[in-house]
Amino acid sequence: MNPAELKNMYEEAKTQYDHYCTQKLSLNMTRGKPCRDQLDLVSGLLETLSPEDEFELANGDDIRNYGGWNGLPEMRAIFGELMGIPAGNIVLGNNSSLQMMYDAVSQGFTHGYSDCKPWSQQENIKFLCPAPGYDRHFAVTEFFGFELIPIQMLETGPDMDEIERLVEADESIKGCWCVPKYGNPTGLTFSDETVRRFAKLKPAAKDFRLFWDNAYCVHHLSDTPDMLLNLYDECLQNGTEDQVFYFASTSKISLPGAGVAAMGMSDNNLKEIQKRLSFQTIGPDKVNQLRHVKYFKNADGIYKVMEQHREILAPKFQLVQWKFAEELGELGIAHWNEPNGGYFINLDVMEGCASRVVELCKNAGVVLTAAGSAFPYGKDAKDTNIRIAPTFPPMNELNQAVQVLCTAIKMAAAEKLLG
Ligand SMILES: Cc1ncc(COP(=O)(O)O)c(C=O)c1O
Repeated sequence: MNPAELKNMYEEAKTQYDHYCTQKLSLNMTRGKPCRDQLDLVSGLLETLSPEDEFELANGDDIRNYGGWNGLPEMRAIFGELMGIPAGNIVLGNNSSLQMMYDAVSQGFTHGYSDCKPWSQQENIKFLCPAPGYDRHFAVTEFFGFELIPIQMLETGPDMDEIERLVEADESIKGCWCVPKYGNPTGLTFSDETVRRFAKLKPAAKDFRLFWDNAYCVHHLSDTPDMLLNLYDECLQNGTEDQVFYFASTSKISLPGAGVAAMGMSDNNLKEIQKRLSFQTIGPDKVNQLRHVKYFKNADGIYKVMEQHREILAPKFQLVQWKFAEELGELGIAHWNEPNGGYFINLDVMEGCASRVVELCKNAGVVLTAAGSAFPYGKDAKDTNIRIAPTFPPMNELNQAVQVLCTAIKMAAAEKLLG
């Protein structure tokens, strides 16, 4: 556009924007939460147990009582299939996998791994943070005072050349965060080659741990779901199984506030974690695990519910993508992805404009995740990235919110180009 055309676009967008501001909107698209309809899908979960039920396990243990440090075998078997890990190598937690991740970092900090000194007693501990990535991952390691090193995300997953170069040379790098399938917020699934390279990684630190958070392993939005190579098997073939912790949960399958979380690991890590868990708890919430086992029965039960989630979510993703295409498609001032699954659409606006777009939206009553939040320390050097979370708002609110967003993107781009 020439300056006159640009000015025209700006004026039009501004008129529209002023109109939105008069509507006193109050729309929130900040976090990737399931919507009410999704939560209602599994209402039956709350009715699966009654006082007359049998609560005894084959070994005579009563599920309602203390004990069962690693969780119900039937629930571990379900996670085993979802995560591609033997049920015997899975430990169940309570409702939050993030808490299990925090705990794994905390254990590294206080007690260390693989007979090395605790991380708190080593110098300049660093964690690799493929970005854009999950802000809460980065926040955990920032909270412990580790240095966060951003790693660029490519179409195939994190930049493996860079990861290998850093991890293989620097003993103070103790871990790397990963969301390998339908990443938060990229929607990307790591390529086979990326998974193989992770399995072959030779960290300088013996106590290095990869945090493989498969939070969206069954969260498809399309008939052609992405396939993720099984890292657990690849690591066994390469003798690197001790350097990975695997995580998943039913938060976005059943109920985020009352689901079941799981952590997978090698035999050696299992021994170490079992010992440590015995100081923390006399067993997880097995009654809730039983509810899940009775409701879902097996992994097929989960796949069926995920189909219903997809019916609710796919139209929301399509709405955002149609709106983006209609409003911004021709302009070249924004790029977005069309993920096959997960909870997010990754939006990149013109360099230097993301914060301004988020600010404009906020002033018009549409709250988005803070610009830069998908980067370590909340700093997106190019100020381009915005995480769009379309799952929670109802369709009419989503429609309005995206309309405001598109208008804000046009205004911010025109402001930048007009100087
Ligand atoms: C990648 C990722 N991991 C973990 C979580 C949280 O999982 P949980 O509810 O099991 O703590 C989220 C939630 O948004 C997420 O996006």
